[in-house]
Amino acid sequence: MQEKAPFYITTAITYPNALPHIGHALEYVQADFLARYYKLQGREVRFQTGLDEHGLKVQESAAKASMTPEAFVEQQSKAFEQIWTGLQIGADRFIRTTDSDHQNIAQAFWTRCAKNQGPDGPDIYKKVYKAWYNSKEEEFLGFYEDYPDPAVFDVKPEFIRLIEEENYFFRLSRYTDQLIEILKQGDYEVLPLNRRKEMLNFAKDKGLTDVSISRDCTKLSWGIPVPNDPSQVMYVWYDALTNYLTGAASTDQDHQIQLSEFWPADLHCVGKDIIRFHALLWPAMLLSAKLPLPKRLIVHGFLLSNGQKMSKSLGTGIDPLQILQKYGSDPLRWFLLSQVPTLDDADFTESRLREIHNADLANDYGNLASRVLNMVKKYLDGHVPSPNSGALTAEIESFWFKTWDNYTHQIELLQIDQALAEVKKLVEKANCLVDEYKPWVLAKEEKLDQLEELLYILIELIRGATFLIKPAIPNASKKVADLFFAQSVPPEAWESFADAKIWGTTNTQKSLGEPPLILFPRLEEQ
Ligand code: MSP
Repeated sequence: MQEKAPFYITTAITYPNALPHIGHALEYVQADFLARYYKLQGREVRFQTGLDEHGLKVQESAAKASMTPEAFVEQQSKAFEQIWTGLQIGADRFIRTTDSDHQNIAQAFWTRCAKNQGPDGPDIYKKVYKAWYNSKEEEFLGFYEDYPDPAVFDVKPEFIRLIEEENYFFRLSRYTDQLIEILKQGDYEVLPLNRRKEMLNFAKDKGLTDVSISRDCTKLSWGIPVPNDPSQVMYVWYDALTNYLTGAASTDQDHQIQLSEFWPADLHCVGKDIIRFHALLWPAMLLSAKLPLPKRLIVHGFLLSNGQKMSKSLGTGIDPLQILQKYGSDPLRWFLLSQVPTLDDADFTESRLREIHNADLANDYGNLASRVLNMVKKYLDGHVPSPNSGALTAEIESFWFKTWDNYTHQIELLQIDQALAEVKKLVEKANCLVDEYKPWVLAKEEKLDQLEELLYILIELIRGATFLIKPAIPNASKKVADLFFAQSVPPEAWESFADAKIWGTTNTQKSLGEPPLILFPRLEEQ
């Protein structure tokens, strides 16, 4: 048997200082969709998400809760697990940066960068400095000598700290030209294009400056110790970025990094606020460590609440658990994947979630499936008719293949919402065929050939839609597959895109299931 090509996909790892809002859920669900899709495409998928547990922000949140950071992240991680399970996130690993294998990788990675010598000296060096720091984003704002007054920063004063220490610096400046070339050539592809341009302009206009990558333990103790210098811990971003490698590598007895077949990563999924870390710092760190660069970075937009940024402190964060408890995972997943343009911002409202569920799933798809099941029961004694090679079948077959190809093409462009719009076309086509050819009239006029041809086409269109929604809403897909196709479609055809795409996969003569009263009940305001 041919070996499956590996596919490694990651999300950003969330800070567990607070529980995630629905904007975080968007990223988990997008990556989960892609992981499920590439599995169906026959890839050996590894999907990683998790928590970014070190740093000032978490240390301060733990102190506020009168807990040790260890106990605090332990408690938070349990709550996160509940949300991942509720959202049906099928990750292979939920990494925590306090995991011991991650600490080993982060330290081994540091050592590799520190050994790398350039014309100006090693890539990691020590320096005394004074700079402003944003504790909310865990981000340096600028050196004190350049900005004596922090009021110039668009950051709430409560989050601004002045750091005056001797720390280790990473020689990011050394990689400016190389990064510009890599981004230009697309060797590490940043999507969408406007984000790539934004990063190129940033690197070209200002050039990249070296960054502090450690903190003095007496000021911040909650971090991974710097190798051979226990007086310092790693800067949280340096630690966090290497999590991607931890998912695809191990360290041997000599503390050397051994890559698995999953490195380099195929796809990192992140939000627009952390693009610089991923498009510039991370590839520079990998160049310094002499490790291969990831293949693609997808930068998604933000989920907004009434046009505003979601934030716990502003009271605009929507709790995914509450939505899950009210409506279940499919309506939420369907909304996030089909209504939010993958690479753009969009607004979330509960009423819109209900509307979309009722229109797409309860009405268009659910009613279609129930109606067809009922007609097959009534006119054909519940058995799948024989396929036909008539003109209508030929026309629908060509539409079918075009739709499947468009779906794949849209996913390659990472436009999940557009791919799902193709599924809606299959459903719409089936509903139009029912309206146009009126099976009840064909039955009345005893045009059995035409009736059978039409019903077979409808069954196939439902099978196609049921397969293509599987990565988005696995529960709904399974429900229809179990009800309709348990006997008539071989199980392999639900696991492989190539098999499912074959027109005529539903076996003739086999019986379809009993029609349910209502497949997907409408959601009402609660
Ligand atoms: N811990 C860092 C990431 C380190 S990755 C090596 C971090 N954490 S975060 O918790 O602030 O954000 C996690 C992810 O959620 C980021 O990709 C961020 O862009 C995304 N989102 C945060 N708010 C969001 C929305 N309102 N909408 C969509 N994504 C959102 O940054």
